[in-house]
Amino acid sequence: MNVVITGASSGIGLAAVKLFCENGWNVYGLSRQKPAWEHENFTFVECDVSSWESVQKARGQVKKPVDLLVPNAGIYLKAPFAELSVADFDKMMAVNVRGVYLTIKAFLDSMLEKESGTIVVISSTAGLNPLPLAAVYAASKHAIHGYANSIRAMCAKKNVRISIVCPGGVNTPIREKERTDYLPPEEIAKTIMFIATCPANTVVDQIIIEPRVQAIGDV
Ligand SMILES: NC(=O)c1ccc[n+]([C@@H]2O[C@H](COP(=O)([O-])OP(=O)(O)OC[C@H]3O[C@@H](n4cnc5c(N)ncnc54)[C@H](OP(=O)(O)O)[C@@H]3O)[C@@H](O)[C@H]2O)c1
Repeated sequence: MNVVITGASSGIGLAAVKLFCENGWNVYGLSRQKPAWEHENFTFVECDVSSWESVQKARGQVKKPVDLLVPNAGIYLKAPFAELSVADFDKMMAVNVRGVYLTIKAFLDSMLEKESGTIVVISSTAGLNPLPLAAVYAASKHAIHGYANSIRAMCAKKNVRISIVCPGGVNTPIREKERTDYLPPEEIAKTIMFIATCPANTVVDQIIIEPRVQAIGDV
C-alpha cells in the first residue's frame, strides 16, 4: 500500500510517516525540509504545498498508485485579530487552505480513475469552533471542512473516501510550549491508521480527538 503524507518533516506528519513505514506501507513524505529520519519504506519529496508548480513536481515523483493521501501540512500564526497582518492572513491561507486544495487536486484524479483511495485531511478542533485568539487559523481550518465535505459524495460514487481528523492540543513544534496534558502526535497517527484500515465500504466523515483537559473545557 502507498501513502502520501504532507508536512512530513515534523509533528503529526512525521509520526504518521513512522507509523505507516513501520506497518509496511510505502510512504512518500512531502515537506520543504527533509526529516532527520530514514527508513527503507520512506521516500522524501521536497514540496511547498502552497505552490502549484511544486505540488505538480512532487506529484510526478510519486510513481506508485496512491492508496492514501494525508493533506496534513499546516501553519499556525497566533495573534489577536487586530495584530495579525494581511501578509499573515495570506501565508496561513496559502498553506492551510490552498495547500490542502492543491494536494487533493494533484492526487484525486488518479484515485477517481482507479476507483479506490482514501483521503484523510488534518483539520483541527479550530475547524469546528471559534478560536478568539486565532481567528484566521480557525477560518483556514473551517474552509477545508467546506471543501472536503462538499466533494465527499462525488468521491464516494467512485469509491474514494474522504475523512477529516480534528485534533485538539497535540505536543508538536507548532505549539509555543509543550503541555503534559496534551496528546502526543502518535495518537493522531493512530487515528489516521484507523481510518485508512476501516473496511472498504466504510466512510468515516470526521473524527474529533482531543485531550481530556480540552474536552472538559479546562484549557
Ligand atoms: N499540534 C496541534 O496541537 C494541532 C492541533 C490541531 C491541528 N493541528 C494540525 O496538524 C497539522 C500538522 O501540524 P503539527 O502540529 O504536526 O505541526 P508541525 O510540527 O509544525 O508540522 C507542520 C508540518 O507542516 C509542514 N509545512 C508547513 N508549511 C509547509 C509548506 N508550505 N509546504 C509543505 N509543508 C509545509 C512543515 O514542514 P516544512 O516546514 O519542512 O515544510 C511540517 O512538517 C497542521 O495542519 C496543524 O494545523 C495541529
